[in-house]
Amino acid sequence: MAMNDLHELFVHKLAQQYYVEQELVETLDEMARHTTNDRMSQGFADHRDETRTQVQRLEDVFAALDRPAEARESAVLDGLEAERSELESEIEDDELLNMVYLNAGMMTERIEMTAYEGLTTIAEQLELGNDVQTPLESNYDEEKSAYRELETMAAAKDLKSLWDRLTPS
Ligand SMILES: [Fe+2]
Repeated sequence: MAMNDLHELFVHKLAQQYYVEQELVETLDEMARHTTNDRMSQGFADHRDETRTQVQRLEDVFAALDRPAEARESAVLDGLEAERSELESEIEDDELLNMVYLNAGMMTERIEMTAYEGLTTIAEQLELGNDVQTPLESNYDEEKSAYRELETMAAAKDLKSLWDRLTPS
């Protein structure tokens, strides 16, 4: 089916983000269980719980548009997932794997932030109103703070020895 207007594009992007959030509940849960770094594990688990709420907020957006919630595959997320599982099967060192999770987490949050920026911009253009805009903005804010949290972890002292150990001298 051809896509003809901005509203259809909005729904398409919304359905993709709905897929992304649902997948990420699983991914974050997996990363929380697999990382050997306690702080990262807690961070992933916290954001997993937030992500469950984000899924519900997107359902609220579909409801505000008077449409059933639909998920549409996202090649970007699938690509990231494929890359992570490839690295997981190749890497045996726990700390090196922690780096993979940290990086995967940051990359995912960046992609999500961009997705929500796109959605809110189109929603504004279409004047879809607060019932659409507010849940999108709440999700956006949570992605931003999840990103900041990971960024802080990447710079944290408890990762310093890890960086040193993994850096070839
Ligand atoms: Fe999210």
